[in-house]
Amino acid sequence: MSRRVLVVCLGNICRSPLAEGIFRHRLDQARPGHRVEFDSAGTGHWHAGQPPDTRAIAVAAGHGVDISGLRARQVTVEDFERFDLILAADRSNLADLRRLSPPQARARLALLLEEYGDGGEVPDPYQHDRDAFERVFAMLDAAARRLLDRQPDPV
Ligand code: 4NP
Repeated sequence: MSRRVLVVCLGNICRSPLAEGIFRHRLDQARPGHRVEFDSAGTGHWHAGQPPDTRAIAVAAGHGVDISGLRARQVTVEDFERFDLILAADRSNLADLRRLSPPQARARLALLLEEYGDGGEVPDPYQHDRDAFERVFAMLDAAARRLLDRQPDPV
């Protein structure tokens, strides 16, 4: 059975495209033929259609992960039926998702680092320097290892 996972942040140009790219890359490497589909979206609409932030693209590329082809989009009400699991980068994103979610939606909502980490939030690096993007990359890569440790079903 295929499983669909959506990662959501505010702009869909920094944290969630990094998570989408890292999770897909690591799972493809470790488990070719897996049936998990990843996507990402933002609660905001401002960056829809845009590629990830240049710093996110550069930091990911430095670790062998190509996210340059991703394009931002805003989360939709249909996402709550299409996805099995929707992961929020921070508590504000999670609160927004809970407000948007139709009652009895299919998708389970969770904080990304509560699902695949020790809890807490993925901090927004947008107003910060490239080091902040490196720290976000490291957090998300550790989350990808947790995801992989969840054999055989990572979702
Ligand atoms: P993200 O970062 O939520 O990790 O994609 C942000 C990107 C853009 C904005 C905020 C956060 N913005 O306000 O434009």
